[in-house]
Amino acid sequence: MKEYAIITFKPINKKVVVRKGTDLLTAMVKGNIFITSSCEGKGVCGRCRVKILKGEFKTEPTGKISENDRKNNIFLACRTIILGNIEVEILPETLLTEKEIKEKRLFARGEEFHLAEVPLKEIYPFSPLSQKYFLRLSLPSLEDNVSDFERICRELKKYKGEKFECETDLPTLRRLPALLRGSNWEITTTVVEKHNRKEIIIVEPRDNSRRNYGVAVDVGTTTIAASLIDLRNGENLKTEISFNKQSSYGEDIISRIIYAEKGEGLETLHHLVCETINELIQNLSENCSINLNDITCIVCSGNMTMTHLLLKINPSFLRKEP
Ligand code: FES
Repeated sequence: MKEYAIITFKPINKKVVVRKGTDLLTAMVKGNIFITSSCEGKGVCGRCRVKILKGEFKTEPTGKISENDRKNNIFLACRTIILGNIEVEILPETLLTEKEIKEKRLFARGEEFHLAEVPLKEIYPFSPLSQKYFLRLSLPSLEDNVSDFERICRELKKYKGEKFECETDLPTLRRLPALLRGSNWEITTTVVEKHNRKEIIIVEPRDNSRRNYGVAVDVGTTTIAASLIDLRNGENLKTEISFNKQSSYGEDIISRIIYAEKGEGLETLHHLVCETINELIQNLSENCSINLNDITCIVCSGNMTMTHLLLKINPSFLRKEP
């Protein structure tokens, strides 16, 4: 047992055994004790505060802990290394809510065994950004002479309820007269719903409602991953991963920001990340034999610098004070 240490958490009196040298935040995750920590243990957010009551440990100096905190034995769990048995008090203000705990379990560092514990759908109920509806519109007559767009919205209410109101853009509106009459009034509409906004983004002839896909993109500094999702049921059909082409202009986010500050730098980095994502989407569509036009929405996530570069927003001020 010498290479292991016992940590006793108060006031819940829970004991967790970990290898000496483990940081306290990891030990807490192992013991299913979840506290606030928004920087994933990098010592930056200053939120993973705990009070050490007694025992052997070492901790790094950090600006996130005041002199007064230190006097009261309050330290950052992620910066505290366990050297022997210790007793730790969990501070009530750092405890997570039930929902936050579920999310934390999913994203706990390297703790894969937690993944099986919480079904994703329990945390994020299935609610696709865009949905397709096959509509058989009634034919216009002298008695029923509403506009083409109104005719579509009226039919959509059968699916979405009487209060459903939506909009569309001018190019779609311009295509409607010929498209409706050329398809014998049988069409598929793609509706995007986000917050209070509902918009018909695509109208296509005949029934294409069984082919609706989305792409979820994780824009990492080194690699980019894109998953093709069937928006009828949320099934992940395939994931493709590639090196972020921006890497040739700097390994880390600081060098990318510096490069973005030069001449056409921002344009170049923006172009490269879009190119990487487009190639991934192209591969997904080819490997899964789906039409690119059936991908009706894309969601991207990434760190602050990556999202700035993707959206072509000047990231320069991210590394400057304040
Ligand atoms: S988790 Fe952010 S400082 Fe510890």
